[in-house]
Amino acid sequence: MTIPKLAIDGGKPVRDDFLFFHKSSVGREEVEEIADSFESGWLTTGPKTAEFERRFAEYLGAPSVVGLNSCTAGLHLGLVVMGVEEGDEVITTPITFPSTANVIEHQRATTVFVDVEPETLLMDPTGLERAITSKTRAITPVHYAGHPCDMPAIMQIAGDNGIRVVEDCAHAIESTLDGRHCGTFGDIGAFSFYATKNITCGEGGAACVNSEELRDRLIVLRLHGLTKDAWKRYDKGGFAHYECVVPGFKYNMMDIQAAMLLHQLGKLNAFAERRRAIVHKYDESLTQIPELRPLTRRSNIQHAHHIYPVLLQLDMLKCSRDQFLNAMQAENIGMAVHFRALHLHPYYVQKHGFKRGDFPNAEKASESLVSLPLYPAMSDHDILTVIEAVERVVANYRR
Ligand SMILES: Cc1ncc(COP(=O)(O)O)c(C=O)c1O
Repeated sequence: MTIPKLAIDGGKPVRDDFLFFHKSSVGREEVEEIADSFESGWLTTGPKTAEFERRFAEYLGAPSVVGLNSCTAGLHLGLVVMGVEEGDEVITTPITFPSTANVIEHQRATTVFVDVEPETLLMDPTGLERAITSKTRAITPVHYAGHPCDMPAIMQIAGDNGIRVVEDCAHAIESTLDGRHCGTFGDIGAFSFYATKNITCGEGGAACVNSEELRDRLIVLRLHGLTKDAWKRYDKGGFAHYECVVPGFKYNMMDIQAAMLLHQLGKLNAFAERRRAIVHKYDESLTQIPELRPLTRRSNIQHAHHIYPVLLQLDMLKCSRDQFLNAMQAENIGMAVHFRALHLHPYYVQKHGFKRGDFPNAEKASESLVSLPLYPAMSDHDILTVIEAVERVVANYRR
């Protein structure tokens, strides 16, 4: 059988129009709820935020949720309330988005990376145990792609050493381990509602916390360290002055964000079902291609399928990862990379002296990872064209 010529080499692309790597699914309900906020005259943190916090906590089975303007804010506040400061070490993994570690640097603490397991790209508990020192104050495991980390092992190590845990749940809204939601194992779990996330309000986040005491502290810290938020200050009843009790941050969620999220949350199960169906179709075809290796999924988990990462087996291909990406884009398939290993980004190299060879599993993944489009708005035709493009690119570059 002749192999169709690649579009990058002058052939006809697999599809005529460009399939974006991501498109959000937002309906009339979200638009009308935002309009309701506009008409009520109340735009910032207020009753819709409170309602979303209540409903998201119920979904997670968490004692409490605090609405924020990003996951990064949640990761940062997590470290702040855990008392992370200069001289402390915080452990995370290099296959993550920069903000996971940037917030450690904001606290003037030291970022300590441990390598990932090669087959899941999750924190390796054995490496974690070895990385602990007398200075370790917190651990930030990343539930990469939506696969839960080994939280029982991580919590055991944390507990044995008196260390706090801030879970990075940016990819893990639906993720559970033995039926328990990610974010509820550690002291705090930080979620993202950024434009590409499984539910979205464009920009937004939330922290789930395991105690009312932590919730109260986050409520104060998310709004400048004030004792009364605007909703309470401007409410009817006796006049209430605010007081600044700590130099807090501007991290609060607005009601116009919560307006979208209330409806996105209601659609979460339908979104998740569509994501599973797409993953099933990808798995069926792509696991047949020896040059590709989708990540391992364990059996006792529910995966959030936030992204569909594939490890290219570059020794079996005549292309680099970036040539593969360019060839896919030329076929009109939008692609992404989650992630290039963070310890080799310029800031981390310059600040901490990390170098190639420090975390071999992360580095190998960093050079061979690609993410395929995965979102509920994809049609069956879209899925088929992604698979066809992957097959065509691999066939052209096969050794
Ligand atoms: C693993 C991970 N952590 C944290 C974040 C930050 O999320 P946000 O943009 O909501 O701050 C992201 C965003 O993509 C992420 O992928």
